[in-house]
Amino acid sequence: MAPTLDEQMHISGSAEAMLPRAYAIRRVKRETADTFTMEFEPVDGASELTFAAGQFNMLYVFGVGEVPISISGNPANPQTLVHTTRVVGTVTKALGELKRGDRVGIRGAYGRGWPVAAATGNDVVIVAGGIGLAPLRPVMYEMLAAREKFGKVVLLYGTRTPADILFRKELEEWRARFDLEVFITVDRGSPDWRGNVGVVTTLIPKAPFDPTNTLAMICGPEVMMRFTINALQKRGVPAEAIYVSMERNMKCAIGFCGHCQYGGAFICKDGPVFSYAQIQELFGKSEI
Ligand SMILES: Cc1cc2nc3c(=O)[nH]c(=O)nc-3n(C[C@H](O)[C@H](O)[C@H](O)COP(=O)(O)OP(=O)(O)OC[C@H]3O[C@@H](n4cnc5c(N)ncnc54)[C@H](O)[C@@H]3O)c2cc1C
Ligand code: FES
Repeated sequence: MAPTLDEQMHISGSAEAMLPRAYAIRRVKRETADTFTMEFEPVDGASELTFAAGQFNMLYVFGVGEVPISISGNPANPQTLVHTTRVVGTVTKALGELKRGDRVGIRGAYGRGWPVAAATGNDVVIVAGGIGLAPLRPVMYEMLAAREKFGKVVLLYGTRTPADILFRKELEEWRARFDLEVFITVDRGSPDWRGNVGVVTTLIPKAPFDPTNTLAMICGPEVMMRFTINALQKRGVPAEAIYVSMERNMKCAIGFCGHCQYGGAFICKDGPVFSYAQIQELFGKSEI
């Protein structure tokens, strides 16, 4: 007799890891025209989903498909599961059309996150481009909760236009702090924009950090990460102190299917965060 689904799940731990759990949308906040933040709560009343800064979940919109989305909430507050998503195609569009009370399937948390503990005692430079600020927001929460453990903390954030700036209220709060340096730049200004105009790399030469004692974390489009790495290296930050978060298509998210293969590594389980020293041979190559 064939095993029941329940039995099958116990035959292979991986089957269980592939099963989404039902979550209900508790709150939706529109960040910009194409980006929204959602809070989720488990429907089955099970315990919260603990995670490390930089990890991601697979979000399944029933009948549409599954996408990897980083967790943008506070790791110290796992009872509030938060994701920030930009609409680019089928699944993210369908997710964006859901409202409070609707259900999605969630599995995770997956992957290796940012090396926050390794940054202890160092200056920290965080460079985010566009939606790349979402996977780095948990790092900000963690560092601010233990601010005394780090040297200078610098956040450099670049978006296309002022209307694309995410987490505006929080950025203002961070900018008002004396123990943080927050610089924001836009590719194209608007009549009421009085801030910096130019790509995010233009901020690096003037950012206040000691390159010999800095850990850098970068998330954004690959081309932005490449130029950021160059600019950091030009200031003397070594490859092993620069961390990037890579994106590839995901299917299983647990190292089985090979969809996310990146040289000898799988981005889903060996990443998405890698030190630049680990991947510099592959970085920037379009076909791997
Ligand atoms: C580890 C990881 C973490 C991620 N975290 C976030 C996050 O926090 N927030 C967020 O908004 N997105 C995040 N993404 C990207 C997100 O998974 C994709 O935007 C999503 O899968 C697109 O699915 P779709 O069905 O909406 O679009 P599709 O219909 O599959 O694609 C629409 C268009 O977008 C392009 N596209 C698809 N996937 C990507 C991608 N990964 N990067 C760039 N272009 C892509 C396609 O080539 C196509 O042109 C993450 C991806 C990975 C791998
Ligand atoms: S998504 Fe299947 S191996 Fe990474």
